[in-house]
Amino acid sequence: MRLRKLLELAKSTFRTRQTNPPEDWDDKSGWDRYFSAKLSAERIVSDPDMIVLRFLSLAHKKGGRIWFAGCGLDRYPKTYAEQGCKVLATDLSSVAVMHQQRLAEAFLRENKSAQVQGAFSAAEHDFTKSTPGGEFDVVINCRAFQGLSVNAMRAAAGHFYAALRPERPGATPEFD
Ligand SMILES: C[S@@+](CC[C@H](N)C(=O)[O-])C[C@H]1O[C@@H](n2cnc3c(N)ncnc32)[C@H](O)[C@@H]1O
Repeated sequence: MRLRKLLELAKSTFRTRQTNPPEDWDDKSGWDRYFSAKLSAERIVSDPDMIVLRFLSLAHKKGGRIWFAGCGLDRYPKTYAEQGCKVLATDLSSVAVMHQQRLAEAFLRENKSAQVQGAFSAAEHDFTKSTPGGEFDVVINCRAFQGLSVNAMRAAAGHFYAALRPERPGATPEFD
């Protein structure tokens, strides 16, 4: 009896402090637990600027409206907004989206008096089900594809494509 209680306690502790991404990528509460654990342990690892900003010239060239699909706790959306882009960050996880909304508020505070042209909003959204609405010049999906099932990947790719505004006549599509 005591052993069973101990096991239950260990399981619930693991559930509340999940340190690995969920095995099933559709597990929304698994992602929430994962991101909550990262935030409470202050374990947010960021790519260096050189990596984060690698799509900036492409984004500006294409028109500057970016959808960051499956953004997690990434600092990409805020960084691109600070560089003048109009950014929407979306994720399945409410915890990730709340974090991005806090970053969006910080972006507004920090850039109120500066002449930054960028914009930044964040919303909960499942990219395998639909597009988030609006038209975008660039869709950036950073490490948020590889854990999906083949059908989910296919659906997501269709929505990423549909979210892109039609190319101007004569413009050439680019892939990175
Ligand atoms: C490995 S993490 C990557 C997060 C972030 N882009 C990064 O590079 O650190 C995968 C992300 O995809 C999100 N995700 C998984 N399935 C999703 C879906 N169907 N719709 C939207 N986001 C999804 C997860 O919530 C998680 O934030």
